[in-house]
Amino acid sequence: MNKTATPQPEFTLERHPQPTPAAAITASLADPVFGKVFTDHMVTIRWKEGLGWHDAKVGPRRAFEIDPACAVLHYAQEIFEGMKAYRRENGEISLFRPQENAKRFRASASRMSMPELPEALFVGAVEALVDIDRAWVPGGEGSSLYLRPFMFAIENYLGVRAASEFLFCVIACPVGPYFKSGKSAVTVWASDHYTRAAPGGTGAAKCGGNYAASLIAQTEASSQGCDQVVFLDAASHRWIEELGGMNIFFVMDDNSLRTPPLSGTILPGITRASIIELARAEGFTVNEAPYAFDEWQADAASGRVKETFACGTAAVVTAIGAVRHAGGEFKIGDGGEGAVTRQLRTLLTDIQRGKAPDTRGWVRTVEAQPVTAAQ
Ligand code: PLP
Ligand code: COI
Repeated sequence: MNKTATPQPEFTLERHPQPTPAAAITASLADPVFGKVFTDHMVTIRWKEGLGWHDAKVGPRRAFEIDPACAVLHYAQEIFEGMKAYRRENGEISLFRPQENAKRFRASASRMSMPELPEALFVGAVEALVDIDRAWVPGGEGSSLYLRPFMFAIENYLGVRAASEFLFCVIACPVGPYFKSGKSAVTVWASDHYTRAAPGGTGAAKCGGNYAASLIAQTEASSQGCDQVVFLDAASHRWIEELGGMNIFFVMDDNSLRTPPLSGTILPGITRASIIELARAEGFTVNEAPYAFDEWQADAASGRVKETFACGTAAVVTAIGAVRHAGGEFKIGDGGEGAVTRQLRTLLTDIQRGKAPDTRGWVRTVEAQPVTAAQ
C-alpha cells in the first residue's frame, strides 16, 4: 500500500480560548518534572485511505473522544517521536535535527503498516506547535520544551489488519533533566530474563508496544534500586543492546568508543548518530561493534572500560556509574561521571543551545509559522 503520496494540507489555527496566564507559565517552567505539564495547544492531522493527509489543525490541547472499538486500543498500531526545542540566549527558539526525527517517524510508520507522513509536514507540524506555544520554552541549562509527535490507528474495527484511518498529533511539555536523582551517574539493571526486541521484530521502530513490553523490566530495575534497565539480545542474552529509552556507549582505556551496532533490534538514536559524528571529528575512534555483558563486567574490573554513558533526547548524555544484575554489582570507573562523557555532552549541548557554531546544519530556528484562522 502506498501511503505516502498525498498533497500537503495547510494548518488552520484555533487559539485556546483561555490560555494559561503568563505568571502560571513562568511558575510551571521553574522546575518542570518530565512529562507532567503540557502546553496550551496541540497539532492534529488526519489520514484516511482514499483521502490521504487532511484536516491539519493547530488547536487547543484537549482530550480525544475514542470509541471502545478504536483499533489502537486493541492492536497497538501506534508510533511516536521525542525531540526538544531550546531557548537560546538571544531569545530564539531552535530544534535539533528535526528532519532526522521526521525520517525515523516515516521508517517507524512503514514498519507498523501506517501511512508515512511527509517529512516537511512533520517538521511543519512541530514548528507550528512550538511557534504558538513559544512562551512555554524554558531557558537555562538542562531545560527545554519536549515535543511528542505521535500517530495512532483511529478506525473502529476489530478485524486484525492495518487500519484505514489514523490521527497524527503533536503535544509539548516543558522539561528539566530526565533523571531527578541529582547523582552525577545513574545505576542500571541488566535484565537477564526480559528482552526488548528480537530479530525481525519492531526494535528499530519507535512504537508504543516496544515500551509496553519493556515496562516489566523497568519495574524490576526500580525494585532493585536502579534508574534504568539495560537490555541484552533476545537470542543469546549475551550482547548488550540498549537501555529502555536510551542508547549506550563505552569509553575504553585507549580512549576509543564502542557502541552496539544498528542490527535492527535497537533504536537508531539521533543522539547516538550525533555523538558518533562529533566524537570522530574530535579524533576519537568509534567502533560500532557488539559488546558482550561478560566482557563489560571483566573490562570494568580491569579498567579496560573507563566510562559508560547512556544517550538520548530525554536523557541527553548521562553517565552510568554502576551495573546491577542477578549475580551482583559492578562499578564503572570511580562510579561517577568521566571526563570523556562530560566532553561529549558539552560538545553536543553547546551546539543544541547555540553556544558553539553549528557547522553541520543541525540546528533549525523556529520562525513564525503561516497558519490560516479557523472559520
Ligand atoms: N533507544 C530507545 C529505546 C529510546 O526510546 C530512545 C529515545 O528516543 C533512544 C534510544 C535515543 O534516541 P534519540 O537519541 O533519537 O532520542
Ligand atoms: C526520548 O528520549 O525522546 C524518548 O522517547 C525516551 C523516553 C525515555 C522518554
